[in-house]
Amino acid sequence: MHFQWYPGHMTKAKRQMQEDIKLIDLVIELVDARVPFSSRNPDIDELGRQKARLVLMNKADLADEEQNKAWAAYFKEKGFFVVKLDARTKAGMKTISGVIMDACKEKIERDRRRGIKNRPVRAMVVGIPNVGKSTFINTYAGKACAKTGNKPGVTKGKQWIRLNKNVELLDTPGILWPKFEDQRVGLYLALVGSIKDELLNIDELSLELIKILQAYYPGALARRYEAVEEQTPAEILQEIARNRNCVKKGGELDYSKASALIIDEFRSGRLGKITLEFPEEQS
Ligand code: G4P
Repeated sequence: MHFQWYPGHMTKAKRQMQEDIKLIDLVIELVDARVPFSSRNPDIDELGRQKARLVLMNKADLADEEQNKAWAAYFKEKGFFVVKLDARTKAGMKTISGVIMDACKEKIERDRRRGIKNRPVRAMVVGIPNVGKSTFINTYAGKACAKTGNKPGVTKGKQWIRLNKNVELLDTPGILWPKFEDQRVGLYLALVGSIKDELLNIDELSLELIKILQAYYPGALARRYEAVEEQTPAEILQEIARNRNCVKKGGELDYSKASALIIDEFRSGRLGKITLEFPEEQS
């Protein structure tokens, strides 16, 4: 499978981010907990050098808890602060505020030594498309918070959201582009729904998903679809089509319908809490 992004967009987004990063103390990077490696672009490590770093493992509600822990340890080892998250809920937001203060301890201390008191920490949210940036900003900022800056006729600067007395957030997230050097990256992002389905061959995708489930989540296909797992992925797909009554008008099995069903049930968590890539593979 091949995926193509537009270099023009990428260059523009990167330049914007280089500018924005100068204004902040902390980079809040969202990754998809089901594919924490493929949903990152390591360019942010270079862009965010010198800044405090917080990784939010978002959509952790859909990922395998054991792997969430392993990935959190992986990121911590790399020097990032880490929080697992379901950005749709308020739970966890208090933890994040605490971790932000921890991550920016040095900056706060430096300010204090210079006699600067109560200057809020400034942060920006970054991540690849569909990872949950807007959801996070909405949940975290809530309705109550006032936007600061960019008052009509006063400044033409950036919009900041005042989260509490200690933290301000740039209101537009930075968009990172996935790095497609490894073909698995495209596959994983397609499976979690971060690449438009129209661009994909859905049958190919479901066969790959079946292969991963057979290898790492034995029992998942049997539980959900009564499928015999000791078969080839194509045979399993056929069995699922049969068991779920995916048939075309003439009575012929509809593999695309069965494929779409499996992928949809994976994405929505109905197949279980599943992580597609593992930290030990990354070293
Ligand atoms: P973005 O700004 O980074 O592009 O992402 P956005 O917030 O728009 O979120 C993309 C989708 O992911 C949304 O679903 C959102 O509800 C969902 N989402 C965000 N955070 C979480 C999370 O922690 N857990 C779960 N389970 N879902 C989350 P959507 O509006 O239905 O879009 P789509 O899924 O149809 O693309």
